[in-house]
Amino acid sequence: MRFQSVVARRLSEDRYSAFARDVIEGLTARPKRLSPKYFYDETGSRLFEEITALPEYYPTRCELAILGAHAPEMARLFPAQTALIEFGSGSSKKARLMLDAAPSIAAYVPVDISSKWLAEEAARLRRDYARLAVLPVAADFTESFQLPRSIATLGRAGFFPGSTIGNFEPHQARAFLQHAAGILGEDAILIVGIDLVKDEGTLTAAYNDAAGVTARFNLNLLARANRELGADFDLAKFSHQAFYNRERARIEMHLVSRSRQKTSVCGRMIELGECETIHTENSYKFTVESFGTLARGAGWTPVAAWSDADGYFSVQALRAAK
Ligand code: TRP
Repeated sequence: MRFQSVVARRLSEDRYSAFARDVIEGLTARPKRLSPKYFYDETGSRLFEEITALPEYYPTRCELAILGAHAPEMARLFPAQTALIEFGSGSSKKARLMLDAAPSIAAYVPVDISSKWLAEEAARLRRDYARLAVLPVAADFTESFQLPRSIATLGRAGFFPGSTIGNFEPHQARAFLQHAAGILGEDAILIVGIDLVKDEGTLTAAYNDAAGVTARFNLNLLARANRELGADFDLAKFSHQAFYNRERARIEMHLVSRSRQKTSVCGRMIELGECETIHTENSYKFTVESFGTLARGAGWTPVAAWSDADGYFSVQALRAAK
């Protein structure tokens, strides 16, 4: 408590939601930032689904192609009777490719923060895979959570597709991999999707689509603050910016203030200078080697890597190091 700033202390009062606190803290910081975890309200989730179908957004297509072609080889690495545990399952579309290829999967444990979505998808999976135990866990997968007791006797395969690991800072990615090793235990396999370093044009186009969906997705953070916090952001006064930071091998997404402006959030005045940016997300890109180094530093041994024909995306299998 002693170390908390006055602002943080005042903001931690109950009448402010976590979202309000994070928006005010992030927008009074320098440089300004907003946490990407607030992208995914209903509008944001819908826009994200649209992004995955955009012609410029290659990662989803590439990863589905890799899983479609190589899931049987991945499944061969799994122990005989396995529980497939997915971190941040969303629509389970990719998990279905694994389930179709791997009769050794006896249980599927989707872990997701959205319990409504989880229950609906679990019902569909039970209908489509009659012999599979579907055991959803509603939890924030970056924090500790309990696996269902009924999988105690099964082997473990973790599944973390979508290059979501690239949305963490490197130290967070390492912490997540360590945390996954702890949850999955000895002899576990972890299947991870990562986006590969490639030419700048392809990378930046994926986050600057011609139809402007990614821009709307980014701006939805401010629209959401207007809806939920009564903030008064004028969306026309902000533009979407995404560029490749080659030195740090990451796409950076920002919202740029088009002019000097003042807005208010929960009675707090927020000032933005002309061209001042709000940093909203990073998407780190890896090479097979750089990801291997990250994994080795976090209790895993890389055992196999698959890629699409263009070498744009990679799915890697890791084994828990003894
Ligand atoms: N993890 C994916 C990526 O970094 C998907 C994603 C997360 C994304 N946030 C995004 C895609 C924002 C576009 C815009 O590419």
